[in-house]
Amino acid sequence: MKKYLIAPSILSANFANLQKDIALVENTGADWLHIDVMDGHFVPNITIGPGVVKNIKKYSKLFFDVHLMISEPEKYWENFYKAGADLIVFHQEVLTDKKVLLETIKKSGIKAGVSIKPKTSVEAIKDILPITDVVLVMTVEPGFGGQSFMADMLPKITQLRNLIDVNKYNCLIEVDGGINVETAKQCLKAGADVLVSGNSIFAAKNPTEALQNLKNITL
Ligand code: DX5
Ligand code: ZN
Repeated sequence: MKKYLIAPSILSANFANLQKDIALVENTGADWLHIDVMDGHFVPNITIGPGVVKNIKKYSKLFFDVHLMISEPEKYWENFYKAGADLIVFHQEVLTDKKVLLETIKKSGIKAGVSIKPKTSVEAIKDILPITDVVLVMTVEPGFGGQSFMADMLPKITQLRNLIDVNKYNCLIEVDGGINVETAKQCLKAGADVLVSGNSIFAAKNPTEALQNLKNITL
């Protein structure tokens, strides 16, 4: 089976002890660390700012995958870049010029990606697929961890997989929301490359075992 990556989302971690929770997933073989940034405007929740990212960067060698659920990513992405982001993902639904922002972020030397909410189609991002490093397909409405996976998003993953393969684009498909071993299997079958998982790891009785199970999926 094709290799896939696991990106634990610290949204479901213990915010009073991020260092410990990050070390746990890092020592268990997580590939990326998914960091959910929310501004209380693009989504009805407020989470992490660049100050937190800067501090946790000192304690982790993981690839920092920063998911900006904010209305004005063009204003704030640089703060997250300076704080240690290795990948910055912003949303297709914001008003910013997506092509310009992708190119600007990539010019800084890190990776750039675009995310689509459940109601946004793959057609909406067709023109930026050749220049984006990652497409993040939301499999829940963004804003909160612990929601149920929307299986009707699977055709979007298949559609993206075909577009990327046929055109030989250098772009990873990341899925985010309601991912557990069962839904992960469905996403991998549809062609996903990166699995974000918050609740199914950090809210598990045994987070180490939960992460190991996600890493050892066979189709
Ligand atoms: C939701 C966030 C997700 C969230 C996923 O808006 O983008 O990254 O942490 O959490 P789970 O895996 O619990 O659905
Ligand atoms: Zn996310």
